[in-house]
Amino acid sequence: MSLHANPLAPTPGVLDDLEAIRILDRSGMLDLTEAFPQQCRDAAAIASSFVSQLPPAAKPTQVVITGLGGSAIGGDLTASLAAASADVPIVVNRDYDLPGFVGPQTLVIASSYSGNTEETLSAYRHAREAGCRIVCVTSGGELARMAEADGAPVCRIPRGRPPRASTGYLLIPTLAVVASCVALDADSGPEALGAAIELLTDCSRRWGRHVPLADNPAKQIALALHGRIPIFYGTQGYRGVLAVRWKGQFNENAKSHAFANVLPEQNHNEILGWDQARTQAQNWSVVFLRDPLELTATPRIAKRVEVLRTVIGNKADQHEVWAEGTTLMQRLLSLMYLGDFASVYAAFLNGVDPTAIAGIDLLKSELARMEG
Ligand code: F6R
Repeated sequence: MSLHANPLAPTPGVLDDLEAIRILDRSGMLDLTEAFPQQCRDAAAIASSFVSQLPPAAKPTQVVITGLGGSAIGGDLTASLAAASADVPIVVNRDYDLPGFVGPQTLVIASSYSGNTEETLSAYRHAREAGCRIVCVTSGGELARMAEADGAPVCRIPRGRPPRASTGYLLIPTLAVVASCVALDADSGPEALGAAIELLTDCSRRWGRHVPLADNPAKQIALALHGRIPIFYGTQGYRGVLAVRWKGQFNENAKSHAFANVLPEQNHNEILGWDQARTQAQNWSVVFLRDPLELTATPRIAKRVEVLRTVIGNKADQHEVWAEGTTLMQRLLSLMYLGDFASVYAAFLNGVDPTAIAGIDLLKSELARMEG
């Protein structure tokens, strides 16, 4: 990562102050983040036992993964991992309704950590009416109740965590269900998880709370972005999904605004927004989410980044973060994991509890009180 001095940064001491972190992090988001590799190990065991018990089924003609927020990202990641090899379309749906094409040959994976998200419950009912094959990934709630009453398989994941801190539990069973009926490459299917979890374990040691700011890139990126509006640019493919994940994590954990876009699309519209940005962008920071293979495998994408960086010039702060590892699974998970850590450290710099989500809770409770 390239780091510039940030005049808006507070005293960064909080990032290395374990007692201050303990007080701010009342519900243990950093514990959950540090323990993510272990969560992935547990999730792999849950997923393989679940998939081994699925009744035999015909190959679907499409897969639709439906969910919202932290429960949709597992779908996005699955679709990215499968993009190169899947022989049927994999669509992620974030709405009350499913696309019109769904029918008896569609596999619908309903993903809701709580099992009570109304859009997902509505999409589940839509799938049931359309005669789809349905599989649920949830910790319980109304989704598990309905599915069990309907005889649809439910992969039960442990309850009691924020959904966005349960990405292993949400992604890995979803991926395993998809891999049971859709072709996936060896470096992106469930068999790639072991090596990826080893890398994540090493990342957790390098990015965890005990590694001081001077040696910790996750703390450094949080500090570089403090007091600024981050714009996350994914440089292609899975980095586009991760730009949205980094944005969501900065929104939910750090309670900070953030924006995201992906190349090459950005080069066809948003690039022009930088014309007027000279004054607007004083408090913006651009973070490019990059993959080491870009330089050799997709040099035209690397060139696009180079040109875009010149267009942005000194109008905004610019940084680059890079995926680690060799397999697609390693690169995708390591780059996601860096953003998860950085967003939690950003919360501490903002003096907020990363777990609290008052605005989302208010919205859900107001909608639950509404009739119809
Ligand atoms: C909260 C979070 C949210 C939820 C979303 C849907 O940590 O990440 O984005 O994931 O509100 O709720 P669930 O996941 O329970 O279906």
